[in-house]
Amino acid sequence: MMNLSQTLLGVTFQNPTVLASGIWGITAASWRRVAACGAGAVTTKSLWLKEHRGHANPVIISTEHWTLNAVGVPDAGIEKAREEIGDYNKNKPVPLIGNIIADTADNYGLIASEIVKLKPDVLEVNISCPNVEDEFGRPFACSGPDAAAVTKTVKAVSGKIPVFIKLSPNVENIGRIALACAEAGADGFTVINTVGPGMAIDLRSRMPILTNKVGGLSGPAIKPIAVKCIADVYRATGGSKPIIGTGGVMTGEDAIEMLLAGASLIGIGTGIAYRGEMIFKLVCDEMKAWGKSEGVKDMKELVGGMHRTLPNG
Ligand SMILES: Cc1cc2nc3c(=O)[nH]c(=O)nc-3n(C[C@H](O)[C@H](O)[C@H](O)COP(=O)(O)O)c2cc1C
Repeated sequence: MMNLSQTLLGVTFQNPTVLASGIWGITAASWRRVAACGAGAVTTKSLWLKEHRGHANPVIISTEHWTLNAVGVPDAGIEKAREEIGDYNKNKPVPLIGNIIADTADNYGLIASEIVKLKPDVLEVNISCPNVEDEFGRPFACSGPDAAAVTKTVKAVSGKIPVFIKLSPNVENIGRIALACAEAGADGFTVINTVGPGMAIDLRSRMPILTNKVGGLSGPAIKPIAVKCIADVYRATGGSKPIIGTGGVMTGEDAIEMLLAGASLIGIGTGIAYRGEMIFKLVCDEMKAWGKSEGVKDMKELVGGMHRTLPNG
């Protein structure tokens, strides 16, 4: 049977599936439940230093092929995070990835230093939410120098905890942004956040369906964009930084495709709504079945495989 376990940057993952940020991952109870559904790791929703209100409903619309959301990254702030992560740490079935967000580089440093005290296994830095903008009107992930400045600030306080930067697909050259973060000390990357923004219009009211008018796209339709972005980041960093490939994963074969592009871990978010909470176990079972039919003994052999088949692709 194909081995799915691996140790990356000192953290052991029993399988590569990871609950993506913002979907279900709000309380210790929800992280434990996702672990019981077979996830190899769980990610918190994006954590702010202070309470942050999201957008008014409706904030999400789903079709067969895509989901559009503008929840507006609501969060209760650091006190609630302390409570929930503290509870999870008492009995932790799988590694916890603490995802943080802020409005300035300095505030990224502040929230990071608070979350580091709660000892997450990995720190994930959300610089890429399409609905939260910097003072120039763009997410930090849209500029190499801005992304590097956040990375540097977080790395200054993260100690031994690996720092993964969550990148946006909505940029001209994601490889160049990844390289700027890597030079600033990033240990790994999560690729990608939602695509867009996009818009959906209600035909009767002739108004955008989302209160925020626009939202980030996720689900099956974005997988080819995610695969391309993973391949670009892998190539730009010479395969030297682990990648959590995220975006539209529904099946074990989707996960294998992301491994071949260069991912070592596989984020699953919207897929929970499409295949149910057991998607984590289903994806692992499907990966093992594929490995058996292809005679692959260890998942690690597949990571970045496309680049070896097509060195200059
Ligand atoms: C409803 C919703 C809320 C999300 N909230 C967050 C968030 O708080 N922080 C974050 O980094 N990403 C957030 N995301 C992005 C996901 O973590 C993921 O990167 C994206 O949805 C692509 O993966 P998927 O197609 O498997 O959902 C959110 C996505 C959705 C659909």
